[in-house]
Amino acid sequence: MKSTTLAPAHPLTDGRTSAAPLVQALRGERPGRTPVWFMRQAGRSLPEYREVRRGTGMLEACLRPDLAAEITLQPVRRHGVDAAVFFSDIVVPLKLAGVGVDIAPGVGPVMDQPYRTADDVARLTSRGLDDAALEPIREAVALTVAELGSTPLLGFGGAPFTLAAYLVEGRPSRDHLAARTLMHADPETWDALVAWTADLTGAFLRAQVEAGASAVQLFDSWAGSLSLADYTARVAPSSARALAFVAGSGVPAIHFGTGTGHLLPALRDVLVTAGVPDHAVGIDYRTPLDEAAALLPGVPLQGNIDPALLGAPWDVLEAHVRDVVSRGLKAPGHVVNLGHGVPPDTDPTVLTRVVELVHSL
Ligand code: CP3
Repeated sequence: MKSTTLAPAHPLTDGRTSAAPLVQALRGERPGRTPVWFMRQAGRSLPEYREVRRGTGMLEACLRPDLAAEITLQPVRRHGVDAAVFFSDIVVPLKLAGVGVDIAPGVGPVMDQPYRTADDVARLTSRGLDDAALEPIREAVALTVAELGSTPLLGFGGAPFTLAAYLVEGRPSRDHLAARTLMHADPETWDALVAWTADLTGAFLRAQVEAGASAVQLFDSWAGSLSLADYTARVAPSSARALAFVAGSGVPAIHFGTGTGHLLPALRDVLVTAGVPDHAVGIDYRTPLDEAAALLPGVPLQGNIDPALLGAPWDVLEAHVRDVVSRGLKAPGHVVNLGHGVPPDTDPTVLTRVVELVHSL
């Protein structure tokens, strides 16, 4: 069947994770317990992460398979979450394609230069991502999956727009003005750029699935800065192009962005256009899940605990988590998560308590 591109011991074909609550919820089912994981669960909120990362740069850590596997497993051991999320970064495929990129602590991805002109973009798109360069990724995923047993590993990639926003701006920005200017000033160059970032992310996603990831998430963190018209015309086709790399694999996909209340049906349409049969939309903390469910009939949802409440008194957080779970009942399947990533100063014992609470409901 379609699975011929997958390694023989793939989790969804050998049944290792096909009954896992995360996979069931992403298929639109209601498993015995509601699955929960957290975006950025692996990282600075964990003292054991800070310990193993000491003296090693972020991208260097991502490309050391033993270290990436260990960091991926840390939150699963500590919190008992229903999924591991692969420790890597959305800019890793850029790095593997030879782009001058680094992750500056406290800042985020920084490029060797902004890529803004037709010439800049032509220089980028002349580079490809060699399949052999993805070997450290496949190795890290395989090591992780071997330790995880029946807990699924979630692979991920950055959506073409979010990657392009970093490339055009050259560094993190608030409104992504230069990227949005290029989109209109030179649509042809823009389309070439996002087709190229789509192919990089697509190859990155495919490598993770081939090595054993049970589901994937496409992060379009900055898509919320776009109008619906710009998103639909200049961004959605490239996101579908990236997801199409894994559409035939049988693994479910989640599509997530922040500030995307006005884009939710468009995010769903990308999954449909890509041909991913089992899919969910990730909802940030701004849209209540029952409202999202009304906008996305029949679609499983992921989300959307407000990360700010992780620092509130327990009774306030508990009431909020119960409210999120109860609103999530309006969707056919629900994966509990935050509305964005774990803040680095979060007390990790609070996250463990949230997992216990969700599992008890
Ligand atoms: O548990 C996980 O989610 C781990 C895997 C993961 C990382 N980055 C590790 C990381 C994932 C899924 C990402 C995705 C990512 N990276 C996104 C999309 C998700 C989102 O948050 O919207 C984006 C926009 C990036 C780019 C990026 N990388 C930023 C903005 C930063 C933070 C910079 C900082 O220091 O505040 C990074 C670095 C990064 N990526 C860290 C981690 C654990 C922190 C690195 C460190 O320990 O210093």
